[in-house]
Amino acid sequence: MIDIHSHILPGIDDGASSLEESLAMARIAVDDGIRVMVATPHVITGLYPNTREAILTATEKLQRVLRENDVSLSILPGAEYHLEPDLPKWMARGELLTVNDAGRYLLVELPAALVPEYTGKVFYELQLQGVTPIIAHPERNIDFAREPGLLHELVSHGALVQITAGSLTGLMGSEAVATARTFLKQGCVHFIASDAHATGDRAPVLSDAAKEAVQLAGEEEAQNLLTGNPDRAIKGERIQTGEIKDLRPAGRGIFSFFRKYLPR
Ligand SMILES: [Fe+2]
Repeated sequence: MIDIHSHILPGIDDGASSLEESLAMARIAVDDGIRVMVATPHVITGLYPNTREAILTATEKLQRVLRENDVSLSILPGAEYHLEPDLPKWMARGELLTVNDAGRYLLVELPAALVPEYTGKVFYELQLQGVTPIIAHPERNIDFAREPGLLHELVSHGALVQITAGSLTGLMGSEAVATARTFLKQGCVHFIASDAHATGDRAPVLSDAAKEAVQLAGEEEAQNLLTGNPDRAIKGERIQTGEIKDLRPAGRGIFSFFRKYLPR
């Protein structure tokens, strides 16, 4: 399996607090059947101002330490960007780090409580630059949970969706389970990732969620969510998306100001 969302780099966000913890997380991942992990530290203005250079350097350093300790986990560079209106501007300046620095997929986290009005505009301006946003764990966002049509609208305009393994297995609470299952059944999930922050409850474990995914979506789709699509993302290859089932109209259109500019 390939994990495209993790906070395994030590000391640069709220994830691993030391190199020892990073090593312990990597060992858990390998034992769980994860062979590649994208390190995606938070990038939030004023809170976690991690630059692409700092992340690239920290990724290389951790990879070296894993090799020295005979841990056979490949660590690739990435980041989890908080949704901010200036993301397209920073992308154009070459300041952002896409998944595996392959230039095609950007992991973006929305605020937990809402979907800002400018979400559609930011995504569209990223897409104009050939960059596809991957929405991190929408099942934990109150607006998306309440109104799946908001997520459907973004996905139907080309965004992809990553849900968190712990949301399928119950670690994130019963509401997250229900919402994650709904999104999965509706065909608007493209990745399952650990979003690991530590050892213990927030460890890099995907196998339990993989079993759930097989039950909910079948063997082939589960394989796609945990290996096939993540592999395409790290290679910067195109990801095939299916039709969204049970599409409900959004109560308020986040693309409403923008609709006339959108590709049909
Ligand atoms: Fe995260």
